[in-house]
Amino acid sequence: MKQESSIEPVFIKHEFAHYEQAEARRRVAGFYRLMNARRSVRDFSSEAVEFEIIEQAIATAGTAPSGANMQPWRFVVVKDNDIKRRIREAAEHEERLSYEGRMPERWLRRLAPLGTDWHKPFLEIAPYLIVVFRIDSVVDDETGEREPTYYAAESVGIAVGLLLAALHTAGLATLTHTPSPMKFLGEILGRPKSEKAFVLIPVGFPAENVRVPDIERKPLNEIMSVI
Ligand SMILES: Cc1cc2nc3c(=O)[nH]c(=O)nc-3n(C[C@H](O)[C@H](O)[C@H](O)COP(=O)(O)O)c2cc1C
Repeated sequence: MKQESSIEPVFIKHEFAHYEQAEARRRVAGFYRLMNARRSVRDFSSEAVEFEIIEQAIATAGTAPSGANMQPWRFVVVKDNDIKRRIREAAEHEERLSYEGRMPERWLRRLAPLGTDWHKPFLEIAPYLIVVFRIDSVVDDETGEREPTYYAAESVGIAVGLLLAALHTAGLATLTHTPSPMKFLGEILGRPKSEKAFVLIPVGFPAENVRVPDIERKPLNEIMSVI
């Protein structure tokens, strides 16, 4: 026999917005314009950014839905110059090995239009690095047993999307950076084994006269099917 949970769910009232369709259209179009102006930046200014903005953006990321509401994320904000330097050195070490041998030719061909290489000076220049960790398992308070989180990658991916959107809304530039293997991030930042580095996000103002790759986004008819 399957055991039933003895926990009773509790339901509460919640205020949901309900806009007239014209207002909803206006709002969603405005949000699209805002998000469509987001671009990954690889050349940052060292200009300071108020910490409160970073905090608010991470609080926004923390509103993401997650498998079984386990909220399997940890956002480590790095401001310390020495730690930033160590992260840059380790990231460049891994990226150099990747660019000079680990990445197959077809991957390098995909990266060519972006003009990236193993040099990552922005990891020391941007005022903040947000290192996002995916929590793969937790210890149950009652049983003391280790239990996996559920749909952790999907959940953290959604949270990172909200984080990037929140930072962009504040006029800040970001890069979604994955200098893999990213094990060094957990080591440098002293995170437990149950947490895996998911993405490294430098945050700040873009450098003056920054340029971004001339890339295109797929049109709606290529990303949406209606049945
Ligand atoms: C999961 C993921 C990993 C990425 N890793 C890197 C990376 O390691 N280095 C880099 O320069 N850009 C990286 N990017 C950024 C992409 O190249 C960028 O999002 C893409 O070219 C589209 O450009 P846009 O962000 O300006 O729209 C990554 C993006 C995602 C979503």
